[in-house]
Amino acid sequence: MCGIVGFTGHQQAAPILLEGLSKLEYRGYDSAGLAVRDGENLAEVVKSTGKLRNLAEKTNDGLAIHGTCGIGHTRWATHGEPSQTNAHPHVSGNCTRSGSGPVESGVVGVHNGIIENYQELKDKLLRHGYTFYSQTDTEVLIKLVDYYYKKYQAGPIDAINKTLVRVRGSYALEVMFTDYPGEIFVARKDSPMIIGVAGGETYVASDVPAILKYTRNVYYIGNLQLARLRPGQAIFYDLNGDEIEIEPTEITFSAEAAEKGGYEYFMMKEIHEQPKAVLDTLNSVLKEDRIDLSEVGLTDEEIQNISQIYIVACGSAWHVGMAAQYIFEDLAELPVRVELASEFRYRRMPLDSNALVVVISQSGETADSLAALREAKTKGLKTMGIVNVVGSSIAREADRVFYTLAGPEIAVATTKAYSAQLIACDILAVQFGKVRGKLTEEQYGELIAKLRLLPEKMSRLLEEKERIQWFAAKFASAKDVFFVGRGIDYAIGLEGSLKMKEISYIHSEAYAAGELKHGTISLIEDGTLVIGLLTQQDLYEKTISNMVECKSRGAYLMGLTTYGNYGVEDTADFTVYIPKTDEHFAASLAVIPLQLLGYYLSVARGLDVDKPRNLAKSVTVE
Ligand code: M6R
Repeated sequence: MCGIVGFTGHQQAAPILLEGLSKLEYRGYDSAGLAVRDGENLAEVVKSTGKLRNLAEKTNDGLAIHGTCGIGHTRWATHGEPSQTNAHPHVSGNCTRSGSGPVESGVVGVHNGIIENYQELKDKLLRHGYTFYSQTDTEVLIKLVDYYYKKYQAGPIDAINKTLVRVRGSYALEVMFTDYPGEIFVARKDSPMIIGVAGGETYVASDVPAILKYTRNVYYIGNLQLARLRPGQAIFYDLNGDEIEIEPTEITFSAEAAEKGGYEYFMMKEIHEQPKAVLDTLNSVLKEDRIDLSEVGLTDEEIQNISQIYIVACGSAWHVGMAAQYIFEDLAELPVRVELASEFRYRRMPLDSNALVVVISQSGETADSLAALREAKTKGLKTMGIVNVVGSSIAREADRVFYTLAGPEIAVATTKAYSAQLIACDILAVQFGKVRGKLTEEQYGELIAKLRLLPEKMSRLLEEKERIQWFAAKFASAKDVFFVGRGIDYAIGLEGSLKMKEISYIHSEAYAAGELKHGTISLIEDGTLVIGLLTQQDLYEKTISNMVECKSRGAYLMGLTTYGNYGVEDTADFTVYIPKTDEHFAASLAVIPLQLLGYYLSVARGLDVDKPRNLAKSVTVE
């Protein structure tokens, strides 16, 4: 949610900042802005509403603003509508109506996160004579820094520290002080921020792709830590203002991994990267045809002693959990509860003290998932993160981490991270089943062999994408779509439905197939598209019956089933087949046509697939 960048060095800052922001635009795209300083001169602020290209046009790709030190921001609005005035950077002094132009001396800054007690802080600042031009919490934050800077006159680190003590919420904060030309000061709590130092220049960003072109050694600044950045130098501080050491982390994925690579949209590229994401994740824990969780930090003894699993996540990661519960329960005979992180964190339910809490998150920064993890730790439960972004908050704070190796995922709609999370859960379920004595050696070997075949089967499915494209063109003006399935098929439907609605804006819902007739079936009318998911053989007949109930009321039926189940064509108007696999793993295959359907519907409706309205890639606010 919101992307921030910073640069101080010897080159012109604005083009570097704009390029960095372009790599972070998936984090927010309501408005964008830059503040750039040329030596001792005051910072020049330029802002623009809408996508980043508007800011690029306004600044002639950055060439119109001069200076070698600057900060930038791309916004996903929380406090205050998307407008030029509410766009960042914000300044401690007064601001022109447009919010652009040279700033008064003082402090200028950008922020990603939410300041929960901003109203109380604003009242305090109003009492001290400050005035406000925007509705944002960020303006309050910047003015509070200015207030402490002037009041105690003990320098920027002291002023930021004093501010942070007063602030409740989350932030990745970047500020420049008029009195400190060529320097940027940063601080973070619960919102991501990385720093890179290379070739006598220093870079700041919310995520690695923005600075990967310049360096692969990045500093992950910790929670409640600060840094003072000069060209080629980063000095880190704790909340007491004492200097601390942070070791850089080497980024292993390539810069190309974060580019579109010839595809029109990141989402299509990422859909095609799924076989690799699954294979890499599998290979990271398969040693000579056995699963080895030593890197994850989960011992056989721990696995034997776990009596309950709580899977906690949001959005698509929660859908992974929904599928995983059936797999764990079946293969490992272990009770599983799947909880929305936003509910789990506030729920007062009795928790099993021998439970393992598994938090699934691509970004590792989702505010609710992180809070749920902390809650579980506070209650003394064992925790594990299934996380894609190395060094992210959830990865660092969970007792153990199972890294999914999906590489950088840029499109807002997740695809390859979902598939990598799903395979991680499959792996865990198989290993839990074996270690807990629920699977024989033979069954264990067979399941691992089936897992190994998934990437190739996924690739085969991708070759048939034109059929889905044709089908999407036919239903591009659909109003309501329903997904029905039972068991794992229900979980697949949840993800298919989310993919459809988030990027094509077509209303869709997923139902456990038996539930539709308890109310929702009244919405079915002539031509309503109902997608029946039929990958679980023992539930096949039941779901077919529910599809027939819809057809009798005028629905157009699409069936998604496994090769061999050709009888489905007697009922469905259009059928998509997936290769055969062990039924526990069918979601890995069945999700692909549904991702493609969402994608092609979005394209057919002329929408921006990678940046759907109102959304942002990682939801770092509650
Ligand atoms: O980064 P996370 O996996 O924690 O994100 C969770 C959800 O915000 C995410 O899966 C979201 O639902 C996606 N946009 C769905 O495509």
